[in-house]
Amino acid sequence: MNIMNVDYSTKIPNNVNLSEDRQVLKALEGWHPGYIDWWNDMGPDGFQQSLVYLRTAYSVDPRGWAKFDYVKMPDYRWGILLAPQEENRVIPFGQHYGEPAWQEVPGEHRAMLRRLIVIQGDTEPASVEQQRHLGKTAPSLYDLRNLFQVNVEEGRHLWAMVYLLQKYFGRDGREEADELLRRRSGDADSPRMLGAFNEATPDWLSFFMFTYFTDRDGKMQLHSLAQSGFDPLSRTCRFMLTEEAHHMFVGETGISRVVQRTVEAMREAGIDDPTDIARVRALGVVDLPTVQKKLNLHYTLSLDLFGSEVSTNAANAYNAGVKGRYRETQIDDDHRLQSGTYPVLKLVDGEIRRVDEPALTALNMRLRDDYTQDCAKGLMRWNKIIALAGYDFRLTLPNVAFHRQIGEFGNIHATPDGVLIDDATWNKRKSDWLPSADDGDFIASLMTPVTGIGEFASWISPPKVGIDNKPGDFEYVKIET
Ligand SMILES: [Fe+2]
Ligand SMILES: [Fe+2]
Repeated sequence: MNIMNVDYSTKIPNNVNLSEDRQVLKALEGWHPGYIDWWNDMGPDGFQQSLVYLRTAYSVDPRGWAKFDYVKMPDYRWGILLAPQEENRVIPFGQHYGEPAWQEVPGEHRAMLRRLIVIQGDTEPASVEQQRHLGKTAPSLYDLRNLFQVNVEEGRHLWAMVYLLQKYFGRDGREEADELLRRRSGDADSPRMLGAFNEATPDWLSFFMFTYFTDRDGKMQLHSLAQSGFDPLSRTCRFMLTEEAHHMFVGETGISRVVQRTVEAMREAGIDDPTDIARVRALGVVDLPTVQKKLNLHYTLSLDLFGSEVSTNAANAYNAGVKGRYRETQIDDDHRLQSGTYPVLKLVDGEIRRVDEPALTALNMRLRDDYTQDCAKGLMRWNKIIALAGYDFRLTLPNVAFHRQIGEFGNIHATPDGVLIDDATWNKRKSDWLPSADDGDFIASLMTPVTGIGEFASWISPPKVGIDNKPGDFEYVKIET
């Protein structure tokens, strides 16, 4: 079988030769009905009988891997796709540095690997659950399609992790696979594993922020796992990253289009002050200070996903050869981190200070720094749109001490500029920095669905180019009425 091409003759499309792997095929086929039940209960609310113009992977060749066609979402071919095996790949870091990559789970690192796979797997269905109501208020058919594309691919990412659990972790892997369908985002009794994945995604501005900031945390985690000495995990994550890029594109361009529409509307109305919120809102667009508040919220929730700045778990996973650094193979050092330090922002005597910590225990901080740098690129684009329209207003990433639940700054309050403040000041001012109930109500008031072909809601610009180069009047979703 050619690894590049996906076998669609079996019930579960794959490029891992499932038809000759009876035991795993049986386990996956046993899991399938529960997955479909989950999709029907917790996947997109409505539109399940609509034809959606979706891409499906037919290959794992980066030069051409997807084809587009109309599909009803429950008929989407969720499959198991691994990037091709690299010949003679070696473990690129940790105590096993330079040894051949593992094709089976090493017994000594089994529990750690399983845990990391389960945590990654848990985020995939969680975001589908968080976004399930958004279809009803989509600002256009184009956006509706993008939402559903993200949703079906997160579903596929769940399949990817379940395959690893069922193939390599025996009975407890199968139990974990069942648990992934049992937990629910935001559920009081059995929530999803990570904080940001239990928050609501109440509106489309949140959706764009989520796909920009939280899917980007996913990108960083997948990059680190793509370095793993456990080769099947590495190959799985490498292909997931191909799909993930689109999710962040949806976020980045979504926010660009919101900002674009806002500055255009302000110009047309002759508004010079972007902080004149009442006047801007009266135009039926989102004022820039509210965009900043949403950004503050989603960025900080995503920072928490990186865990504590100084972490022995992260050090152990690195030592074990299980989870590497972002772009590990391109870093010029010993890839063991037995010496060397990394600067970590910490709270020392009531002040935020940079403290050198052993590089090995500071890996979460390093990954988070890489993440912040990656986030900054979008802000440059958004700020350029604002500047080109002639406005003196900049979107910024808040200080890492602001609005944190986890790590060094989890127990203090700080302003977005990183000034430490007491509880009373925080309570008085937090609605200046984070979306308030009023802000939420205003955004909700804009969320009326637009389903006409080629039409867009008042608060968002059309995209510059269509998906799959389709023209502006393309019917991305044929809504079943
Ligand atoms: Fe994903
Ligand atoms: Fe994603």
